[in-house]
Amino acid sequence: MTHSNKKIDQEVRNYGGSEYGLVNANAEPNSKRLLLSDLRGGDYAHAGDVEAIDLVLDKILKINPKVKSGNVLDVGCGFGGTLEYLRNQGFTNLYGVDINAESINYAKTKYQNIHFDLLDALEIESFYPKEKFDLVIMFNSIYAITDKKKLLESLAKISKKDAILVVFDYSSPKQNKALPILDFSGKKMLPIELKSFSTDLKETNWHLIEAKDLSNEFITWYSKFIDRLRNKKNYLEQNFSKNDINQVESSFSYFLNQLKNKNMEGVVIYATKYK
Ligand SMILES: C[S@@+](CC[C@H](N)C(=O)[O-])C[C@H]1O[C@@H](n2cnc3c(N)ncnc32)[C@H](O)[C@@H]1O
Repeated sequence: MTHSNKKIDQEVRNYGGSEYGLVNANAEPNSKRLLLSDLRGGDYAHAGDVEAIDLVLDKILKINPKVKSGNVLDVGCGFGGTLEYLRNQGFTNLYGVDINAESINYAKTKYQNIHFDLLDALEIESFYPKEKFDLVIMFNSIYAITDKKKLLESLAKISKKDAILVVFDYSSPKQNKALPILDFSGKKMLPIELKSFSTDLKETNWHLIEAKDLSNEFITWYSKFIDRLRNKKNYLEQNFSKNDINQVESSFSYFLNQLKNKNMEGVVIYATKYK
């Protein structure tokens, strides 16, 4: 283990985590993420599961129904369940990238009609041809990106004119202020600050269509999620460690409290590419 890895490891342990998203082609999927998939009944790791995807699909098909036959990219795709859901809704040209090797291995094996690649989102511009995509989606993944403007700039380059960008995530009034917990792969969590994000969109060739507050929806989704976890504890304890279950429960309880106290919001942002 290198010095910097040791540091990350220590940092993760400080928050009670044990695994992080290092590139390790042979590793098994992170057990807490498998637990989340189990509880959600699909390979998703975002708030609202299928309900959130349906909400987004409804909107993007109103903006431009033709995206269904276009090229779609899911950045920070995790286990690939969101793209598989889109495939079942009739989308055909589906691409997913994630920095986590375990997730990409899992997705590639399970969903063979979708292209998955192991990639840091910030390297995306050199990986795909210019103007390839008609739709780019990010479900609870932009929080892990520190330089959000650089990412928006790269995404604009690989997107066609009028392509749609969807960013579904946490937002907070404080810019660049990390939450005091790490995500389940040990990444820092930096919610979007809407004012600066809107400026970043504008300056990177994206036209903001709508930023819709989903805080109430996030509260409902997380309350139900925590209830489900508590109701299924006996079953979960047969398949996952108590430590994992407790960490998932305490993280989601933390998010729920932050949302209820309005320290954090849920948001979905839709934008299109100018030219
Ligand atoms: C909470 S999960 C969401 C996964 C997926 N979007 C979903 O809804 O199921 C966040 C994902 O972002 C990925 N991620 C974090 N930083 C990334 C980066 N720099 N490049 C690509 N993916 C990244 C993580 O590995 C993780 O799979």
